[in-house]
Amino acid sequence: MKVYLDNAATTRLDEEVFQAMLPYMKEDFGNPSSIHAFGRKTRSAIETARKTIAKSLNVTPAEIFFTSGGTEADNMAIVRAIETYGIKHAITSKIEHHAVEHTLCQLEKEGKIKLSWVNIDSKGNVDLKHLEELLKANPKSFVSLMHANNEIGTLLPINKVGELCEKYESVFHSDTVQTMGHFAMDLRAMKVHMVTCAGHKFHGPKGVGFLYVNHSIKLKPLIYGGAQERNMRGGTENLYGIVGLAKAFEICNRQMTEHQDHIRGLKNYMIGELQKNIAGVEFNGEINEHSLYTVLNVLLPPSDDAEMLLFNLDIQGIAASGGSACSSGSNQGSHVLRALGIDMTRPSVRFSFCKYTTKEEIDYAVTKLVEILKIKEVVK
Ligand SMILES: Cc1ncc(COP(=O)(O)O)c(C=O)c1O
Repeated sequence: MKVYLDNAATTRLDEEVFQAMLPYMKEDFGNPSSIHAFGRKTRSAIETARKTIAKSLNVTPAEIFFTSGGTEADNMAIVRAIETYGIKHAITSKIEHHAVEHTLCQLEKEGKIKLSWVNIDSKGNVDLKHLEELLKANPKSFVSLMHANNEIGTLLPINKVGELCEKYESVFHSDTVQTMGHFAMDLRAMKVHMVTCAGHKFHGPKGVGFLYVNHSIKLKPLIYGGAQERNMRGGTENLYGIVGLAKAFEICNRQMTEHQDHIRGLKNYMIGELQKNIAGVEFNGEINEHSLYTVLNVLLPPSDDAEMLLFNLDIQGIAASGGSACSSGSNQGSHVLRALGIDMTRPSVRFSFCKYTTKEEIDYAVTKLVEILKIKEVVK
């Protein structure tokens, strides 16, 4: 049996998305910048995709910039907003994705900003009091805090952070890569200046995403070249990627409640099964309503087989991860778990679910996990 429980790393392409992309890989291949009919057709497909995404986020199409994915969108937001506005101080947390953390650290290394780290608790919740203290001492800062943590699933109270940023005249960027397509968002009502998206996290294609930039923010491009993306990102567009991204977004919005209920149900079921079958099991990050329903990070009891756990799961056909995709196959690499003060001698496994995940797959994964851990004792 092959069981894919690593959907926070990436997801399977939806068949409907694939079908929407196909014509743009074959007959509709014109360069969107060409003025002839071939080009006009693909230009129209890109602008329709932009409108679909903008409409579901309640923003204008002019606020959506297509990128090569989450990492580029995060880089563009951080590097260009800090430069454009001459910002000298930034605030972030120790559990951000490397697309954010490494970008900000690089700017600090280059002497462009001073970086402050907001306190987080052991479940990954941001200390809002500390955030306000930092903002009070450093108004007009750049704040980057992720909407949902990709490793532990803890959610940020994004509107509360937005209100604090507004109070202290700061620019607020949130990495929403794990929540886009999973929660309905009205960005007009949210006090966030920039958010990011990666299509492959919700059954869209890889290598495509977008950056939303509120109309009040003006950025310089990150990539210079042609006039694509209204001069904000040179380079011939990833046409079929953009078409697929918009289709995936449309499907998510159409089926959101149904999928939320299905996935949340499976996550809660897995929590229960793990608690029933593994004495001393705990969970990293929140598992309540302040948590992303697609992610479950399990902290297992100490085991001799800890090092080999992901490898053994893989042998049984189960794909899970020890942290973010870049540290799949290793428990050592998680900067997030380390920042939370989690006991790194105990194995942690991130299981992440999607609309295709079934109860049978969860049962199989729990059974194999118990076998691998060689746990004999059953909790009554
Ligand atoms: C929270 C978060 N931010 C950014 C990224 C990077 O996105 P991409 O792979 O599209 O560059 C990821 C993907 O793992 C992510 O989970």
